[in-house]
Amino acid sequence: VGIALLGCGTVGGGLAERLLREHQLIQRRTGVEYVLRGIAVRDPLKARSGTIPADLFTCDAQALASDPSVDLVIECIGGTSVAAELVERAIDHGRHVVTANKDLIATQGPRLRALAARRGVSLRCEAAVAGGIPIVRALEESLAGETISSLAGIVNGTCNTILGALERGESYDDALADAQAKGFAEADPSSDVLGTDSAHKLAILIQLAFGLAVISPRIRRTGIDKIATADVATAARLNHRIKLVANARRTANGCEAEVAPIWVRNDHPLARIEGANNAIAVRARDAGELFFSGLGAGRGPSAASVFADTIGTLRAIAERHEYGVRGRRGLDLEPAIDVAGAYDTFERAARFSTLYDAIAAERTLRAYGVAVSGAATLTGTPLLRYLPDHRYDAKAIARALADANCAPASIFPIWNDPITHTAPASQLTAVHSLPAT
Ligand SMILES: NC(=O)c1ccc[n+]([C@@H]2O[C@H](COP(=O)([O-])OP(=O)(O)OC[C@H]3O[C@@H](n4cnc5c(N)ncnc54)[C@H](OP(=O)(O)O)[C@@H]3O)[C@@H](O)[C@H]2O)c1
Repeated sequence: VGIALLGCGTVGGGLAERLLREHQLIQRRTGVEYVLRGIAVRDPLKARSGTIPADLFTCDAQALASDPSVDLVIECIGGTSVAAELVERAIDHGRHVVTANKDLIATQGPRLRALAARRGVSLRCEAAVAGGIPIVRALEESLAGETISSLAGIVNGTCNTILGALERGESYDDALADAQAKGFAEADPSSDVLGTDSAHKLAILIQLAFGLAVISPRIRRTGIDKIATADVATAARLNHRIKLVANARRTANGCEAEVAPIWVRNDHPLARIEGANNAIAVRARDAGELFFSGLGAGRGPSAASVFADTIGTLRAIAERHEYGVRGRRGLDLEPAIDVAGAYDTFERAARFSTLYDAIAAERTLRAYGVAVSGAATLTGTPLLRYLPDHRYDAKAIARALADANCAPASIFPIWNDPITHTAPASQLTAVHSLPAT
């Protein structure tokens, strides 16, 4: 079997080393002899790991991917321009594809899966979601016979790291600069901090879990860029942490899906996910609640996932597997009529700059018929918790508050159970028992 590797950066570099170093082991595990035909890079003269022979490098990715002696194309370039063209062409020419590219699968996954099914080749993308956690395989294979009703996760380690730093009292700007200095955050961190990267991963999870042809531009997202140290401190005083959660629930016509920073109670498993770790909770009809966690990015975990996909593809080839089996899922993706936001009807907490604001907001919301659990001050932070009535959407509520001249400093959905979408009454009791002024 001929293998073409496209890209030799963080992920591709880790994979190239393993493909070369563990040749014997892979052949033993798969029963397939393979040859790494070449590695496409942008700059073939760049200094690379000394264990990779220099004559493998080429800057002609198109020629390498369409080499007739190549059966499997592994794409680790990233982005949706060059990579999309290469992947599409490889599939169209009957090559199996393994990709780590979340942007690509999140925006063009349904189309590429359908194409792979038509061409009878496999398209695997384990590294595209949550780095080293085998969530894609779990949804595609282990839970293949399940009906999955909802899922929720922390799928961006950069945001999780920054939120952790805010809890330690760092400012948002310092926390971001620190994450960049340590290599957690990109030089341009916007895709991470604005929630786009999480929305990409959520789209892929929805495709796999619900069989719906949802692409990421349809998913509403709010990032963490407006979160201040005071916000996480307020949540902490009420035994919550702010986490950027990607959340989806199957509905009759499609799904509810949203990425947003929300309050998660300290004792919830998602609240315990620290730093660069990721976690995904899945509720399946028969298997019940499942919780996956582990490292969400980085050379080791991500290359391990691409490596596992490579071994899976080689094994399928060895077993003269019916290649269409995997790809066929793509044809089954149903159109999603609705992709609604997830938090319109959620209980919310709003932090105000003065107690007067909180009291005025409470009066306004009550006048609109919105259930309010009472203004409270928490060592100087006026906080109001309310349950938006299902007749009002979040925008109408925000408008009503603005009309009353009481702009909250921040509003967060409060969420206790990532799976069932309930906010138990005990949370409200906790707020009522705070000293009111
Ligand atoms: N990094 C992670 O932790 C992680 C985790 C999960 C998934 N992923 C995904 O994995 C993919 C790769 O990410 P990465 O972090 O490994 O990226 P990276 O370090 O920036 O590496 C990209 C590689 O692609 C090569 N390249 C760029 N344009 C090219 C072109 N036109 N033709 C041929 N080669 C080209 C680059 O060549 P040069 O070396 O010459 O510049 C480089 O080797 C992305 O889709 C990313 O989303 C990454």
